[in-house]
Amino acid sequence: MTEQVVNASNEWDPLQEVIVGVADHSCFPFEPRIVVENTVPARYWDEHRPHNPFPEEIVAKACEQLDNFAKVLTDLGITVRRPKVVDFSSLETPGYTASMVRDAITVAQDRIIEAPYSWRSRNHESLAYEDLFKHYEAQGAKVYRRPPPPADVDALLGPGERHREYVINDNRPAFDAADFIRLDKTIIGQLSNTTNRSGVKHLEKCLEGTGIEVVLVESLDSHAFHIDATITPLREGLLIYNPTYITVEELQKVERLKGWKFIPAPFPKPREYPPFFMSSAWLIMNILVIDPKRAIIEAEDDHLADLLLEHGITPIRVPFQYVHSLGGSFHCTTVDIRRDHSTSA
Ligand code: NVA
Repeated sequence: MTEQVVNASNEWDPLQEVIVGVADHSCFPFEPRIVVENTVPARYWDEHRPHNPFPEEIVAKACEQLDNFAKVLTDLGITVRRPKVVDFSSLETPGYTASMVRDAITVAQDRIIEAPYSWRSRNHESLAYEDLFKHYEAQGAKVYRRPPPPADVDALLGPGERHREYVINDNRPAFDAADFIRLDKTIIGQLSNTTNRSGVKHLEKCLEGTGIEVVLVESLDSHAFHIDATITPLREGLLIYNPTYITVEELQKVERLKGWKFIPAPFPKPREYPPFFMSSAWLIMNILVIDPKRAIIEAEDDHLADLLLEHGITPIRVPFQYVHSLGGSFHCTTVDIRRDHSTSA
């Protein structure tokens, strides 16, 4: 039997092939002020102007750190593929980045699912991924491209049903793939400022026939977007969680997590530079698990390194602070294409 090139259904089995994002020409995403105010840190709200690139030095160093990360993965024997470089600063409609690929794409079994993003600044991001989609289609994968964005760019912001205080309504399907974490036949997700109920239904439709069920948990964060600084599974039965974003009681409601050990993540060290333009310092949790015994973490996250060692996981320290400035860390900047599930329970 020929091996499937695309086959990844959890976050911890041995990683064999991965996409690593590219940061060239990344810009502050230009969104309506209400969206910006509900998602990213207040001190940088005014930077979210049309065609405003992130500072040159930060982008240049982020590119170097991503290239180095890709090399570390290649040296571990993992196949690495990269998106196409797109100049987001010169598109007619302001764009964002192709570095945060986990927001854009999720993989479940042999399916590649592109997110129906809520942000208009991501409407042209597929330009960076189309060659990869075609490559994997030619290898037998099923690719679910995003539905065309509606002509009414404000469809998600006007009157309509909302979950809690989140900024988007439910007038069309919207999700970011980073609002979901995969645990084999269960995907844990959250409604957020980027994901609505119709978006979850859209994901469930793409998963039809896989036997995978989507289970939602409730975030404590009114600015919630992207669950991958909330829970990080390390291996079957063990996860770290962010005590400021989710309660243990909420995790205990999930049937798939019965009997799991939940470890609170260490509080991140504050940092002035490089700035967190798009996120909190909780990116400490946004690690990439290589296999049940190794994980890539930011080079300076000593407390997390100690915690992982206590649980039998070897941290591989990789510098990544300039990439943080663009909105994510190792988990956000990757999409696992294939993990070896042959030994998992
Ligand atoms: N929006 C969250 C998650 C980022 C991956 C944060 O800033 O902490």
